[in-house]
Amino acid sequence: MGIKDCNNIMDFRRIARRRLPASVFHYLDGGADDEWSLARNTDAFNDYELLPSQLSDVSNIDLNSTLFGQAVDWPVMIAPTGASKLFHRDGEPAVVRAAEKFGMTYSLSTLGTTTIEDAADAGRCPMMFQVYVFKDRGLTAEFVDRCKDRNYAALCLTVDTPVAGNRERDIVYGVSAKPRLTWHNTWSYARHPGWVYRALVRKDLELVNVTSSDAGGKMSSGASEYINSQFDRSLTWKDVEWLASQWDGPLVIKGVQTVDDCRKASNSGATAVMLSNHGGRQLESAPAPVDCIARVADALHDRLEIICDGGIRRGTHVVKALALGANACSIGRGYLYPLAAGGQAGVERGLLLLRSEVERAMALLGCDNVDKLGEHYIRHRV
Ligand code: FNR
Repeated sequence: MGIKDCNNIMDFRRIARRRLPASVFHYLDGGADDEWSLARNTDAFNDYELLPSQLSDVSNIDLNSTLFGQAVDWPVMIAPTGASKLFHRDGEPAVVRAAEKFGMTYSLSTLGTTTIEDAADAGRCPMMFQVYVFKDRGLTAEFVDRCKDRNYAALCLTVDTPVAGNRERDIVYGVSAKPRLTWHNTWSYARHPGWVYRALVRKDLELVNVTSSDAGGKMSSGASEYINSQFDRSLTWKDVEWLASQWDGPLVIKGVQTVDDCRKASNSGATAVMLSNHGGRQLESAPAPVDCIARVADALHDRLEIICDGGIRRGTHVVKALALGANACSIGRGYLYPLAAGGQAGVERGLLLLRSEVERAMALLGCDNVDKLGEHYIRHRV
């Protein structure tokens, strides 16, 4: 099976599983504890039904939208995920180029394997930088300056990671940038010599945005150990106020779920929220983002842009999130499986399939413009 045989996002997952060492695949694919939130993020979309309005002239479907003050070709963005070069040698730049072709916003993670500058040079799509706040606070101020220099459209603070979630697959398979041999992964590394060569010989798995600090270098100890030793757990909404004053542009808070936290985000200077449980990788039993949209939109749609982040695998998921009141959706594994399966060509095919699904769902729903999507097109299943 190749990327041309993939008909939907989950088809790429099968190729990714074959192409990656087990430790890396499970790092990409897995969630916290019993993975209830991970599964629920996607399953929750099935609790909603779409209500078509027939004979509505759908000869032209308009998906154009805006996000963070920038025009985008459709309201889906690339979520920030660390270390894309773990999954494919072309890493973040390959995804930036695909995002440019599809007219969408790209997000670079603090834990990316490409610098803020190189990601900006890779393409001309709107860029967001996602910040983790390290114990070394000087790093955050440095990120802000570098993003200003490179005209990033938005800055995003992830707030759901004071400590690493309990990702048991990572414990079993021992993910890290440098292969650590365990009973479960030795044979798998032996079957992926190209990946092992890159990890051992080349330098492209470094966390290149944090090299000016003690936090720099490789995640050679493993993701959880890195997060627990480097991230600042003392953050509060006061720090968001500080960040908003430093950045003075669109500020996104990622990893909130309640109306209360979204209101605090807005009061602290944020202009957007990503309703997210980190793709089920942090607090187990946190609600599915899609289930949080309606309440937050009712209370705060005039103060915040609302992004539904997590579980999106199908175009109907995007349409449902928008009908419930989200301004946009973001995808993590939805582009990482295609990246692992086929680099830039894989991501482009994945995005093409997803966008076609959105267009088809809009036509079948009888809605010709994403701005017209609203609660009259959706109901909670009884
Ligand atoms: C992530 N995510 C994430 N989020 C973040 O703010 N900073 C990061 O560095 C990462 N890294 C990361 C790595 C991997 C492998 C995954 C799968 C996810 C979370 C990501 O931004 C997003 O919230 C989820 O991926 C959304 O869920 P779906 O779309 O994967 O279901």
